[in-house]
Amino acid sequence: MTIAEIKSLFEADISNCASLAELQELKVKYLGKSGLLTSLLKSIKNLPAQERPTFGAKVNELRNEMESRFADKAVLLKSSEMQRRLQEERVDISLTDCPSRGALHPVTLIENRIGELMTALGFEVLSGPEIETDYYNFEALNIPYDHPARDMQDTFYITDSILLRTQTSAMQARVMEHRKPPLKILCPGKVFRSDSDASHSPVFHQIEGLVVDKNITLCDLKGTLEYIAAHLFGPQTKVRFRPSFFPFTEPSVEVDLTCSNCGGTGCSLCKGTGWIEVLGAGMVNPFVLENCGIDSKKYSGYAFGIGVERVAMIKYGIPDIRLFYENDQRFLKQFAK
Ligand code: PHE
Repeated sequence: MTIAEIKSLFEADISNCASLAELQELKVKYLGKSGLLTSLLKSIKNLPAQERPTFGAKVNELRNEMESRFADKAVLLKSSEMQRRLQEERVDISLTDCPSRGALHPVTLIENRIGELMTALGFEVLSGPEIETDYYNFEALNIPYDHPARDMQDTFYITDSILLRTQTSAMQARVMEHRKPPLKILCPGKVFRSDSDASHSPVFHQIEGLVVDKNITLCDLKGTLEYIAAHLFGPQTKVRFRPSFFPFTEPSVEVDLTCSNCGGTGCSLCKGTGWIEVLGAGMVNPFVLENCGIDSKKYSGYAFGIGVERVAMIKYGIPDIRLFYENDQRFLKQFAK
């Protein structure tokens, strides 16, 4: 091949070259040990002596040109390679259909909030077994054998003496058996009752509060509940006690709050009364204290049991308790922050 032929072949090759790998191959093809230009240079010995300097100079000139063209082409290819990768690996941050993020369940939100409020008052949070003995769920709480709450229609029995707890009050005797006053505890958890309609679920959540100390009165109970109500539903919320009966508290009360929907003037949520019943409470029955080895002459206490779903239904305007357990994302998403 002549210098001119090599040169025009090189022109075609380099302009067709599309990658750095190909460029490397071309370097070998022209400038490698047995490359076209190298072989041409080697053929110099076959020329007459007087032609050699000019020929050598021309070949060198072409080699220099090739080297600088290779270098230019390498820069070009590197930058287009970079552009291609940037394009290919681009992350579209405007993408909207990314996996949806989870959110806390409304029951958890209420449970956490009440937990926060009570630990700020020095309450300690404890949890206990959901599978409970008849003793802690009923007997220790002064619920006699023939009490209707023990009926098979309300309670899920596992055996004659083992059951799914029907109330977090079962924790009262468990705690007082082992610990002595002063006591300030909060026991959130699941409870179970054989009941199911728009306002009853076979499993739901309660939060038990228990305080035992010297000189504890109904006023302490009311003050504590007013504090919780104000923080959950707003400072204007009023708390009302109505006489009630629980075997393990004496006196016992049903606790109503002014309706958070109408503020107490009466609406469909509070059935026109202006009040909504949220929990049961009372002064710990001396029988229960004595039964756990606590001197009821020296100590008194109060207890309350909050229905968590009930509070969430009022707070968020949820009409049917079954919505909590269906795991419908459209329902749950509404509680995402
Ligand atoms: N355990 C009662 C219930 O489930 C509520 C309650 C708790 C009442 C503590 C008084 C004291 O209805």
